[in-house]
Amino acid sequence: MRSVSTSVRRTLFAKLLPSLIAATLACCAAAYGLSNHFSQRVLDQWLLDSAMSLVKQVHAEHGKTTISVTADALEIFEWDAVDRIYYEIESAREGRILGNARIPYPPRQTVAGGRPVFYDAAIAAAGVRGLAMAVATADGDVVQIRMAETRNKRGLLTNDVLVSTLIVSVFVVAVVGYIIWRGIGTGIALLENAVRDIRSLHGASPLSPIDEAAVPSEVVPLVQDLNELVGELATTLREKQRFVADAAHQLRTPFASMRVQLELARRESNPARHQAAIDSALAVIGNTTRMLHQLLTLARVDESPAGLAVNQRINVVALVRDEVERRSDEVWNASGDIGYEGPSTPVFVKGNEALLREAVANLLDNACKHAGGGIITAGVIADPPEVFVEDNGPGIPVSERDRVRDRFYRIPDGTSDGCGLGLAIVEEIAKHHHATLILDAARGGQGLLARINFGKLAPGRPAPDAA
Ligand SMILES: Nc1ncnc2c1ncn2[C@@H]1O[C@H](COP(=O)(O)OP(=O)(O)O)[C@@H](O)[C@H]1O
Ligand SMILES: [Mg+2]
Repeated sequence: MRSVSTSVRRTLFAKLLPSLIAATLACCAAAYGLSNHFSQRVLDQWLLDSAMSLVKQVHAEHGKTTISVTADALEIFEWDAVDRIYYEIESAREGRILGNARIPYPPRQTVAGGRPVFYDAAIAAAGVRGLAMAVATADGDVVQIRMAETRNKRGLLTNDVLVSTLIVSVFVVAVVGYIIWRGIGTGIALLENAVRDIRSLHGASPLSPIDEAAVPSEVVPLVQDLNELVGELATTLREKQRFVADAAHQLRTPFASMRVQLELARRESNPARHQAAIDSALAVIGNTTRMLHQLLTLARVDESPAGLAVNQRINVVALVRDEVERRSDEVWNASGDIGYEGPSTPVFVKGNEALLREAVANLLDNACKHAGGGIITAGVIADPPEVFVEDNGPGIPVSERDRVRDRFYRIPDGTSDGCGLGLAIVEEIAKHHHATLILDAARGGQGLLARINFGKLAPGRPAPDAA
């Protein structure tokens, strides 16, 4: 089942949208505050203009302060389609001169010096905007003019500003949101193109690297990792193909030789020669079986390196003694000598018992095969742990000691009837155990000393007898 994958576009957009809305709302709130403030100021200015036109009608003559304004003029003055206009004029000397309502005084500020004071108040339980200002007459009287206006116009104006700001906000969020959505889309399109290119390339040749120059810089690290992986896969695949081809090639020879022997046996009427042909066919089958076993071992080690547990506690002393024991009859029958050298107390290493046994068996098989009736010593060193097999056969020339570890490589002297997998298997198993396979000349100078060393030391450590 496929898990629901996240969309980069939707994720980015979901992350950006709240900030966009918050920023737009903040801007609109500021715009609303400012437009409201300035529109109210315009209305205040109108109130002030009206007050000033009344001030102009104040006269002070012969110690008497009067205001000369006709009833018609006052009617025009009071007229307003939506609001009620109130006025009240008081003189310090005469008291109240004129007015159509009792207008409250400004709550805090004192009114003086011809400066208008604006304030909020209430008349007959209705909220009003008030203005008070005081002017001095030429003969020393002080006249205070107060004007007030109900808030209907102001309320309507506030509503209009609020509604238009909200409309603008929604519009801005929609437009900017759309632009961001498209912008992200354009960015994603680059990625999608790259993915499409990669897929079409992949379809054509699955293991070819992706061109890093053709993808957006953000995905270059991903592409580099992919290329590395593809490179490793291609190498592994090539090795596997070569391995299968080599294996098939190796198996062809014994099968051909078996066929020859069996055909010979079928034609042969002489019982002794018939038996000899059958025996050699059986010998080939024995060799082939061993080869198949080696192939399977390598395939197992190659296939699941992580799946092979290497955490068993293995007593290598018992293991090596066991393997020596198993070959003693065969070696003594060939009038050779085989023995164990090393501690009699257990030496433990961490690893996979079956694999380690396979490695020691391969080294001992080689020694038996190449030293024939010679002397074979297998042993253990305790610290750092090491398993070794030594023989006094022909040995391996220094120039060949690396190549003999290659799969299917045999020293071209025609002495080996194997298929060149033994040491490759030992090397692979050693690697698995973080150990090192070291091939040296035997201590006596003649023969091979093969060591599997479990310590963290470089090849070229002193031979076992020096330890
Ligand atoms: N103990 C040994 N003495 C001499 N030569 C050896 C010894 N072990 C291995 N070799 C050489 O190394 C080659 C590779 O060995 P190996 O990987 O076991 O393959 P195989 O035994 O199948 O030929 C052999 O062909 C042989 O020539
Ligand atoms: Mg071998």
